[in-house]
Amino acid sequence: MIEFHDEDARDSRAVYRAVSSAFGRSAEAELIEALRKAADSIISLVADEDGEIVGHVLLSRMNAPFPALALAPVSVIPTRQRRGIGSTLIKLAVNRARNGGWAAIFVLGDPNYYQRFGFEREAAAGFTSPYAGPHFMTLKLSQSLSASTGELGHPRAFAALD
Ligand SMILES: CC(C)(COP(=O)(O)OP(=O)(O)OC[C@H]1O[C@@H](n2cnc3c(N)ncnc32)[C@H](O)[C@@H]1OP(=O)(O)O)[C@@H](O)C(=O)NCCC(=O)NCCS
Repeated sequence: MIEFHDEDARDSRAVYRAVSSAFGRSAEAELIEALRKAADSIISLVADEDGEIVGHVLLSRMNAPFPALALAPVSVIPTRQRRGIGSTLIKLAVNRARNGGWAAIFVLGDPNYYQRFGFEREAAAGFTSPYAGPHFMTLKLSQSLSASTGELGHPRAFAALD
């Protein structure tokens, strides 16, 4: 049985392993460690299958004209992919952000994947960011965002990721 819950201190090593396994390298797992250390990690959820961490999603604090979070990374270990775990993690994280009063979530990724959760390229197009481009999207959580343009800053730890 799979349970979804907040990451707790005991999960961090298993999260590191699961994320490294999903990406086939440790850079994204290191990013999570750095975001945690800098206290930029805001929402961190795990998928726990009978005590094994098989998936993880992280939302971290951005600098933006309104309260905004960056969605990254999302990870599901290879043997558990394509069973809806990634989608469930993203939907739960989005709901958590909405309930927490955050106004928007930004993501850099494949539009074919993220559009199904409501992320839009057009809505992100007015913002300035090192990640701006065809893969940069946003999901508005507040009906009345205070701005559709402006400068965005990701947490410093993202700069280490290629
Ligand atoms: C991307 C990832 C988190 C998806 O998790 P998942 O549990 O396999 O996804 P789900 O089962 O919820 O959804 C499967 C759907 O996502 C699509 N999908 C999976 N990975 C995708 C990717 N990298 N790009 C585009 N679409 C993808 C599949 O085509 C499938 O769509 P379909 O059902 O219409 O065929 C997982 O494949 C993973 O960890 N990949 C490696 C790490 C990664 O690339 N993370 C995303 C960037 S941060």
